[in-house]
Amino acid sequence: MVFKFLSSVVTIDIVSVQPKMFEGFLSESIVSRAVKKGLCSINIIDLKDYGVGRWKKTDDKPYGGGPGMLMRCEPWFAALEPLLPARVIMTSPAGRKFNQSDAQELSKCDHIVFMCGHYEGFDARIETLATDIFSIGDFVLTGGEIPAAAMADAIVRLIPGVLGGGIEATQSESFSSGGGLEAPQYTHPAEFRCMKVPEVLLSGDHKKIDKWRRAAAAELTLKNRPDLVKRGQL
Ligand SMILES: C[S@@+](CC[C@H](N)C(=O)[O-])C[C@H]1O[C@@H](n2cnc3c(N)ncnc32)[C@H](O)[C@@H]1O
Repeated sequence: MVFKFLSSVVTIDIVSVQPKMFEGFLSESIVSRAVKKGLCSINIIDLKDYGVGRWKKTDDKPYGGGPGMLMRCEPWFAALEPLLPARVIMTSPAGRKFNQSDAQELSKCDHIVFMCGHYEGFDARIETLATDIFSIGDFVLTGGEIPAAAMADAIVRLIPGVLGGGIEATQSESFSSGGGLEAPQYTHPAEFRCMKVPEVLLSGDHKKIDKWRRAAAAELTLKNRPDLVKRGQL
């Protein structure tokens, strides 16, 4: 079963044993707006359609013993080979940590395939299908659907035309220009429960506002993410 959502500039295929997990993601998000605008297409592919035997098995017991089940090779090779060539992203807590530079790079690709693991993960031979193995953080989720949706969202919002604010909306935010965090932001009212918006932001003096934002961004980065400063990204 393949759910097709319009075809256009960037094609993202997501292969999963739980395709229904993407229903909300594809109907309610900015990603769904990007699909409607024709800026990307997203196909959800049910791995069970490529399962082995009468029961369409996608998993089996690990050789050498151990808890849980592993994903078998045959369904993954059968599902992915017709989709190649593409950037094939395996989701795994053992992968390299996905970051904003990866999202920027992938937003320029024509065709991306996400592999959503389940159970205890993939038979190690399935890795040979992947061009990249990405983790979304140092924690273990039950499946690769949330990581795939998170990465797809980070990628799609960088495709020109997807966000209302234009290119500037993605260039001035955290992890983008300079690599640090974005400065704190404020909206109306100017005062709420004795908490005032910094005077400079009400001044209309854009030189002073830029200077304040740069200093506030550096201060916030030092406080919350000193690792970014140590890596010399500011
Ligand atoms: C329960 S996890 C498997 C964990 C694996 N046994 C391990 O210890 O590394 C099942 C699947 O969820 C996905 N997953 C879980 N945590 C993830 C993370 N932090 N980043 C990316 N994918 C993750 C992967 O697709 C993985 O194959």
